[in-house]
Amino acid sequence: MTDALEEVRIVAAECRACDLWKTGTQTVFGEGSETAQLMLVGEQPGDKEDLAGRPFVGPAGRILDQGLEEAGIDRSSVYVTNAVKHFKWEARGKRRLHKRPDATEIAACRPWLDKEIELVQPRVVVCLGATAAQALLGRSFKVTKQRGELFPQPAGHVITATVHPSSILRAADAASRESEMAAFTEDLRLVNRQLQAFSA
Ligand code: URA
Repeated sequence: MTDALEEVRIVAAECRACDLWKTGTQTVFGEGSETAQLMLVGEQPGDKEDLAGRPFVGPAGRILDQGLEEAGIDRSSVYVTNAVKHFKWEARGKRRLHKRPDATEIAACRPWLDKEIELVQPRVVVCLGATAAQALLGRSFKVTKQRGELFPQPAGHVITATVHPSSILRAADAASRESEMAAFTEDLRLVNRQLQAFSA
């Protein structure tokens, strides 16, 4: 990590801008290449990520890794982060079940995401799912209708969105899981082509 990114990560570890720090184990800051051309933004850390302190290392992370590999994108060349950096959950017996962050929590975390984008300076930011897309593209953004569209930003990068990898895990049956995985991989392939066009 660059010194500047590392400094932000250290400050974010003490973030108290919303109440999620009280129940999360730790701030899960983004990680990956500090010169990445591609930044992936998820919703929030899950149970495994909360414990590990790293984004996308649990079941959704495995789907993400598979999609990246099939799309020819090396995860080590990418910067991976979340719109919200604490795990929001509710107890169900001994399990901690994911709870969607609300608008206040997303807004409270936004400065960290903005800093990551400012310091990494990616060419393309891919929102994984509705929470990240609505955080960066506005509350009316619909992933179902607008996935794959490119939204150029004044800072010079482009933002686009696809589904959240967890939605593939939740697919009703094997056939829909397979087609959703294929569509996700295709979205990532298009992103890869976009990146190659930028550097041509
Ligand atoms: N889901 C997310 O949105 N982010 C993670 O880091 C893990 C699961």
